[in-house]
Amino acid sequence: MGHHGPRLVLLCGLPGAGKTTVARRLEQELSAVRLCPDEWLAGLGLDLLDGDARERVERCLWRHARALLASGAVVIMENGFWERAERDEKRLRARALGAAVELWYLRVPMEELERRIALRNHEPGSVVLTAGLLRSCQTRFEPPTQAELDLFDTPLL
Ligand SMILES: Nc1ncnc2c1ncn2[C@@H]1O[C@H](COP(=O)(O)OP(=O)(O)O)[C@@H](O)[C@H]1O
Ligand SMILES: [Mg+2]
Repeated sequence: MGHHGPRLVLLCGLPGAGKTTVARRLEQELSAVRLCPDEWLAGLGLDLLDGDARERVERCLWRHARALLASGAVVIMENGFWERAERDEKRLRARALGAAVELWYLRVPMEELERRIALRNHEPGSVVLTAGLLRSCQTRFEPPTQAELDLFDTPLL
């Protein structure tokens, strides 16, 4: 542990897919730095459903991720990465910094996402997501193909 070079781990999936759950485990097991937009938005007192605020926070976190990679860290990002173009950009720019890049695609059926979100909506401090909002996320989501997954490095775990 802690002897691998710089590495970027991207967690891809819809709300409720388990990104934060997996990211917390990897953070421990890889001695990594986890960058979670939701937590930064909340910590800054911003609305988690404010798309412009999210974009600004994600830009700041990406700048921070690059600095961490340049210093040799393992960095975990749990933005969701719904768009292929965004995943391509992260992969190519991290590789240009000499980092390995993993893509974890958490594929979960919609009924199970709805079940988990309904449960999470009851947890204190969670942002309530409606089933309608979840479905609108799904229409924007571009699931990675096997060919795309093959472009990434083999996960350490
Ligand atoms: N593999 C799993 N099986 C069942 N429930 C899970 C699993 N992973 C996460 N959960 C639960 O589902 C909810 C959403 O998980 P979370 O990690 O917050 O997802 P995301 O960060 O992708 O939105 C949480 O309440 C979490 O405890
Ligand atoms: Mg999360």
